[in-house]
Order: sequence, then C-alpha cells, then structure tokens
Amino acid sequence: MRLRAMAGIGAAGFGVAGLMMALFPAGATEAPGHILRWQDEQVVATGATIYAAQCAACHGAALEGQPDWQVRRADGRLPAPPHDPSGYTWHHPDAVLIDITTRGTAAVVGRGYESDMMGYGDSLTEDEIIAVLSYIKSTWPREVIDVHNDINTRAALE
Ligand code: HEC
Repeated sequence: MRLRAMAGIGAAGFGVAGLMMALFPAGATEAPGHILRWQDEQVVATGATIYAAQCAACHGAALEGQPDWQVRRADGRLPAPPHDPSGYTWHHPDAVLIDITTRGTAAVVGRGYESDMMGYGDSLTEDEIIAVLSYIKSTWPREVIDVHNDINTRAALE
C-alpha cells in the first residue's frame, strides 16, 4: 500500500518534470524569455571581467555611458549610452539585448544604419555574451530588475 502510494507520487513527479522540460527548453533558467543569469554570482563575476575588458571603454567603467549620449555626433552616429537605469538598456527584453550584442546595432536596425556598437558574435561565445549582460542586469536596483523581468515575460508571450 505504502509502496504503491510512493510509486504514484514518483509518477506524478516525473509528469511534472516532463512538462517543465517541454515548457522550458534546456538552458533556460527560469521561464521562457528569461535568459540572463543575473542571480548567478559566478556568471555575474565572469560578466564583470568581460565588461571591464570589452565594454567599459565606451559604456563607462560605472556603466555611465559617454557624455551627451543622446546627441548624434557630426558623423551621424550616436555615442555609447549608459547601461545603468538612466539609459534604455533595461527597456529591451533579454533576447533583444543578446541580439544587439551578438550582431551589432547596424545589423539589428538594418536599412544602412551606422553605429559604433559592433557585434561580438565572433569574439565572445554565447555564454560570455549572456554573462556580460547578466552582470549589467545585476547592477540595477530591484525595482528596475522587476520591471525588466515583466518585459521579458511579456516579450515571450508575443
Ligand atoms: C566602440 C564603442 C563600444 C563598445 C566597445 C561597446 N559598445 Fe555597446 N554601444 C555602443 C554605442 C555607440 C551604442 C548605441 C548604438 C546606436 O544606438 O546607434 C551601443 C549600444 C549598446 C546596446 C543597446 C543599448 C540600448 O539601449 O539600446 C547594448 C545592449 C550594448 N551596446 C552592449 C554592449 C556590450 C555588452 C559591450 C561589450 C561586450 C559593448 N556594448 C561594447 C558602443 C560600444
């Protein structure tokens, strides 16, 4: 009797695991659309190192961006925006941030748009791109993280 009940629980457990695997494909940490691993200290530490080496020169050591970042330069290109909450980074769902960092802004926008934001798809692995963006997200205050989580959830439903 007791064994049977336990077997039943086991089967139910397997069912839930199977459903979770169907809903959340391998590699997804939380739910669909939530790709960045800002709660994983090791990923964030790796991301911080990559940020300092590859991104800080333009986006600033404290994620503050370049001066007058909203004003196009004489050559028509925009300066680097901040990645802190004063910029727009947190307005984009994870998938868009990863796409911009992988392919670069010119490729993402298209139509001959020119940008200093190059793609890192050839120089960084997908995990490294996720790590650097996870680091950026980990620096945001909790309210901004919550709003960004909602943006991810909504984007995944579209
Ligand atoms: C050579 C300077 C430069 C470097 C280095 C650089 N960026 Fe950028 N980045 C820019 C500029 C300029 C923009 C704005 C592009 C535009 O809108 O035309 C930008 C935009 C972005 C955006 C979009 C922000 C938004 O609000 O839409 C993301 C995300 C981003 N960069 C991530 C990174 C990451 C991650 C790194 C390091 C791996 C990096 N960038 C390195 C110049 C740079």
